[in-house]
Amino acid sequence: MRILAFLSLLALVLPEAGTASLPKEDRKRREEQLPREGDSYAALPVGNNVLNPDNYGDVIDLSNYEDLTDYGDQLLEVKVTSLAPPTRISPTESSTAPRTPSANPVMTRPITRGLLGSSANHGLPTCLVCVCLGSSVYCDDIDLEDIPPLPRATAYLYARFNRISHIRTGDFEGLTKLKRIDLSSNSISSIDNDAFRMLPALQDLILPGNQLAGLPVLPTGIEFLDVRLNRLRSSGIQPDAFRAMEKLQFLFLADNLLESIPGPFPLSLRLLHLQNNRIETMQRDTFCHPEEHKHTRKRLEDIRLDGNPINLSLFPSAYFCLPRLPTGRFT
Ligand SMILES: *[C@@H]1O[C@H](CO)[C@@H](O)[C@H](O)[C@H]1NC(C)=O
Repeated sequence: MRILAFLSLLALVLPEAGTASLPKEDRKRREEQLPREGDSYAALPVGNNVLNPDNYGDVIDLSNYEDLTDYGDQLLEVKVTSLAPPTRISPTESSTAPRTPSANPVMTRPITRGLLGSSANHGLPTCLVCVCLGSSVYCDDIDLEDIPPLPRATAYLYARFNRISHIRTGDFEGLTKLKRIDLSSNSISSIDNDAFRMLPALQDLILPGNQLAGLPVLPTGIEFLDVRLNRLRSSGIQPDAFRAMEKLQFLFLADNLLESIPGPFPLSLRLLHLQNNRIETMQRDTFCHPEEHKHTRKRLEDIRLDGNPINLSLFPSAYFCLPRLPTGRFT
């Protein structure tokens, strides 16, 4: 009986081991697909499907993993009957079936789900499913659907390449040490307005490759904000969203659906990337104060407006305070 129990445990563990080698390859491919600054508009269509995690499975070459998976199947045959009844598989889960192409999608998914569930329900350490190193928590590429409960001391959170779709008000509650949140390449379409507001230490908020149409209230200490490759519309950004952010230096808003330039901006700003949006016009005072003819924005050296239907020659009095002209069409 003990041997049977051991075998069934082995059968539970091995398919996980088989898939555990997948993410590395998976991640490499994903990183190859991640856009770089300067990529052309054609390569980065808005609402970019390339970054949609649901599609990743399609491009993974599973031929290298057949042996491992078959091994798991043989073990499964030994003791399949002693396993718990199959857990319900939702449509989204079954869509990941290509990653574990054997006849046991039921085997691999609920294990992960079970661990995550228990960490959420019984307060077991998130560090069982994520890797915790010092004050950093790494939860990349583990099919998370929600932000897991985080240790109080978390300063850096990486939860890239998951399936998170919604950020809730309580998700980061009490995390006063949190400096960086990186949720690149999830499916985030909504963020509760207060979800980030009470994070006094937050400096870097990194959200490219999601489906955001708007921004929540942001803490004023943010220095680096990256919301590239989303579905941001001008109506989704509050008129004074950035004004009070007096430490903001880097603002990446490229590859969205913005119809206008979302100022005013704090004087701390050094980089403003707005390429590949739908901006057609700008105000005379978007960057410079029309009456104060001195160089008030020495720091703002990198403005990109290429890939927008705006003729920058039409606004000759808008740039006098800048150390450099914006990148874009001047004809
Ligand atoms: C852009 O504006 C300038 C200045 O008014 C004008 O001379 C030029 O023809 C415009 N270019 C286009 C492509 O509309």
